[in-house]
Amino acid sequence: VLEEQPYRTAYHFQPPKNWMNVLILIHVPVVWHVLLVKTANDESADPNGPMYYNGIYHLFYQHNPYGPLWGNMTWAHSISYDLINWVHLDHALNPIDPFDINGCWSGSTTILPGGKPAILYTGKDTENHEVQNLAVPKNLSDPLLIEWVKSAHNPIMTPVNGIDPCFYRDPTTAWQGPNKRWRVIVGSQTDGHGTAILYTSEDFVNWTRSESPLHSSNRTGMWECPDFYPVSVEGNGRGIEPKYVLKASFNHQDHYVIGHYDPKTDIYVVNTDFMDSALQLRYDYGKFYASKTFLDSGKKRRVLWAWIEETDSEYDDIEKGWSGLQSFPRTVSIGKSGEQLAQWPIKEIEKLHSEEVNIHDKELKGGSVLEVVGITGSQADVEVSFVLPKFEETEMMEQNLVDPQLLCSQNQASVEGLLGPFGLLVLASKDLTEQTAIFFRIFRSHSKYVVLMCSDQSRQLIQTRKGMFSSDHITMVLLGTLFFFMNRSSLRDEVEKTTYGAFVDVDPSSETVSLRSLTSALTNMSASGLRKPSGSQRPKLQIDHSIVESFGGEGVACITARVYPKLATGKEAHLYAFNNGTQSVKISKLSAWSMKEAQFFQYRKEESHF
Ligand code: FRU
Repeated sequence: VLEEQPYRTAYHFQPPKNWMNVLILIHVPVVWHVLLVKTANDESADPNGPMYYNGIYHLFYQHNPYGPLWGNMTWAHSISYDLINWVHLDHALNPIDPFDINGCWSGSTTILPGGKPAILYTGKDTENHEVQNLAVPKNLSDPLLIEWVKSAHNPIMTPVNGIDPCFYRDPTTAWQGPNKRWRVIVGSQTDGHGTAILYTSEDFVNWTRSESPLHSSNRTGMWECPDFYPVSVEGNGRGIEPKYVLKASFNHQDHYVIGHYDPKTDIYVVNTDFMDSALQLRYDYGKFYASKTFLDSGKKRRVLWAWIEETDSEYDDIEKGWSGLQSFPRTVSIGKSGEQLAQWPIKEIEKLHSEEVNIHDKELKGGSVLEVVGITGSQADVEVSFVLPKFEETEMMEQNLVDPQLLCSQNQASVEGLLGPFGLLVLASKDLTEQTAIFFRIFRSHSKYVVLMCSDQSRQLIQTRKGMFSSDHITMVLLGTLFFFMNRSSLRDEVEKTTYGAFVDVDPSSETVSLRSLTSALTNMSASGLRKPSGSQRPKLQIDHSIVESFGGEGVACITARVYPKLATGKEAHLYAFNNGTQSVKISKLSAWSMKEAQFFQYRKEESHF
């Protein structure tokens, strides 16, 4: 299957595919049966209403059952016991009623008192207006909650009093204030500006719009898929109020702010507003959209999912018969600085580890490349720590270059620096004509160091005896022929190859904390009095055929990229560490694992022979 479908992932969540005549019996409180069937040709997008309920994880998602492109939006439903292996159930919500006939759009679940889950979702009604609807499980004694019934009161919120019916969607998980009234926010825009309209309710059916939105911003447009949740502040002990995160999806990116929320007054005051800080806080600086978190009450953690869109063409999606992935689930918590979130792949990922390779204390001279052999390069999990040498100098950052993505585009892996670029080449062909570089580069700006993290899908390193050069910057004479190398993560021309970038931990308020956590990783740094680069040199990467999820700075800067190599697929995908700075760096430890395939099953009750 993977040979025919080189980009289909092995452990990232995808909708059903292919078929096997296998009957599998799964033991849950009631006996039920699973048959894998062929259902190719589908699209998946936003994760909807993830929840942990009675020992089972539920994931709903925006799904087109009839084709690999967006349309016919339906709530698909899958369940899991471990967030790794999944059973696809029947669709939970189909667009067949007047209040959702043009689509069951995104929404969330809330677990009501007495353990009753409820879905709030947006329907596109007969007039193509966006309205909010309620649905509840048909049979609470069904442990899988397969069937859902829509409320007779639908729609329960409508775009009245100046709300634009085309910009009114994606209700969040609701929460209760001290007066027990429910609160929920709905994404919208007012006068072209992003806003989170607040509603309250006694009974979850009748909702009253609050006078003020929970938050709004005149620096952004429409907010899609808002998310609002508390994060506890690490090490603060009891009695300390949690901070609250507000996430909004706009400009194809998921931005968040952190602030203080008073549940009595519903006043939310943010530390730094959307688009205001130099960091421009985002969950991920690559492809990552319409995300949603849920509280995993079993494991006491908050888990984040997001839609990872394709970056190939629609034509490719039709050829492949599918489009859209879900990110690998990440835990999300407040980072050490208290000013940023930290994300990390959930621990269950270890269930998928197979062959393991370790490298210790290996010097990477300037201009060198080291192959990591012994694991499956197309399906891997990699962690690496670099130790920097004693250094006095590093490159100065130009004052006008404050956009990390722009900085990465101008300082690709191929452009030699002093300290960096160093990092990993993933999904790389043996001869390195195809490669994706995830790397760091260290600059000095005023009195501190700045760590830049890049995921470069657009350029390639070319190795010569002298070291590596950018193929876009040189022409090489080989065997008497003039070669001009256009090179990249894929030799295919029609796929998007944006270079992504992020600064890692440049917030001065985090200085002492990051410094403390770093002393063991960064030895012999000389420039006393200057702020030292943070743990960003210890990235973790998830590679899965056509996706690379990278976690820098212990998860404060993450970059996800979609990559469609032509040569570097399956067994032909290699993994390398590289250093293209003039100064040596040392790999203190690199651990890499081949990843097993996660299991995906299709539930089909009516086809059961039992
Ligand atoms: C985000 C989004 C949501 C909407 C859904 C429709 O990707 O546009 O705002 O509810 O997708 O599929």
